[in-house]
Amino acid sequence: MARKIFGERWEVIEPISEGGQAFVYKVRDSRQAQDTVFVLKRLKNPKRLDRFEGEIEACKRLNHPGIAPIIDFSLNDPAFYVTNYYDGNLISEAGKFTPLRALDFFIRLCDIVDYAHAQGVIHRDLKPDNVIITTSDDLVVLDFGLCYMQDTEQRLTETMEQVGSRFYMAPEFEGGRAGDVTAKADTYALGKILYFMLTGRHIAREAFRGDNELSNILQNSQVKYITDRILQGSVVEDPSMRVDVKSLRETSVLVRRLITEHYYPGREGSRCRFCGEGHYSSARRADIRVHYPGIEMTDHFDLLICDHCGNIQWFQKKEE
Ligand SMILES: Nc1ncnc2c1ncn2[C@@H]1O[C@H](COP(=O)(O)OP(=O)(O)O)[C@@H](O)[C@H]1O
Ligand SMILES: [Mg+2]
Repeated sequence: MARKIFGERWEVIEPISEGGQAFVYKVRDSRQAQDTVFVLKRLKNPKRLDRFEGEIEACKRLNHPGIAPIIDFSLNDPAFYVTNYYDGNLISEAGKFTPLRALDFFIRLCDIVDYAHAQGVIHRDLKPDNVIITTSDDLVVLDFGLCYMQDTEQRLTETMEQVGSRFYMAPEFEGGRAGDVTAKADTYALGKILYFMLTGRHIAREAFRGDNELSNILQNSQVKYITDRILQGSVVEDPSMRVDVKSLRETSVLVRRLITEHYYPGREGSRCRFCGEGHYSSARRADIRVHYPGIEMTDHFDLLICDHCGNIQWFQKKEE
């Protein structure tokens, strides 16, 4: 059977996915001798050509290792574009991470989205299905199919409903007016992605309470510590109460620093090194599974919690 070829050049190896708007295939370049794998995304419905063209324009405007570059494209039916193939897992497939790993990915995700915002591109469809973590732990944001580009003629009256994922769509999408949706919609979706990376769960908007029922005390404390400080500026109904992605990133870097600097000989009763006001009281001793980069081990720890701000310090228990 003859192989399917696009643009007289891109030979289909196998399909990757079929979404509402597009087919995605692994392809190879028939003009190249070596068998490098690329990805070809093909528009399904020619009536959506405007938006597909917007996706291509946005990706051409964005030059960042975390955003797939446009290698070739065609707007003739069937419209398609070709980009790099990234081997890895979607965040949705990778599931739950340890708190620090989640925070680390989150900070890098904020970097990419903040870069896009600085170039005038709002993604508007950020979700765990649209971010790949490559086998070398790099992040790539996919699918600018719903993006909004500032300084373009893009119509603001188009209907946005039913297009993105409801779990990750900011409430202002529901008005159905694309003009209501600003960069703060990405702030909202990012907060929910962080929540997913911390807990492995999609949180419906109605169900979101900022808490969780995780059982492990350390996980619980750290997850709560992170979510308390980051989600209050992102997963909130009113867009004007949300911070921009740059501040979201800055807060996250600070939270990471506060969490990672917790190995110190803390003492019960000593002044809190975070707020400077409260004092530490001993929460409990625990055998905790720790995840250092590349190492997983069970160790004994003492946890101290500030009675004023709730900052948690923990240190390795010395064997008597
Ligand atoms: N460059 C790529 N490298 C690897 N996989 C990709 C790439 N682009 C898309 N995919 C896969 O195809 C799926 C659909 O692509 P996406 O651009 O999100 O299209 P859709 O609009 O159908 O959601 C992604 O979730 C991912 O699994
Ligand atoms: Mg997608």
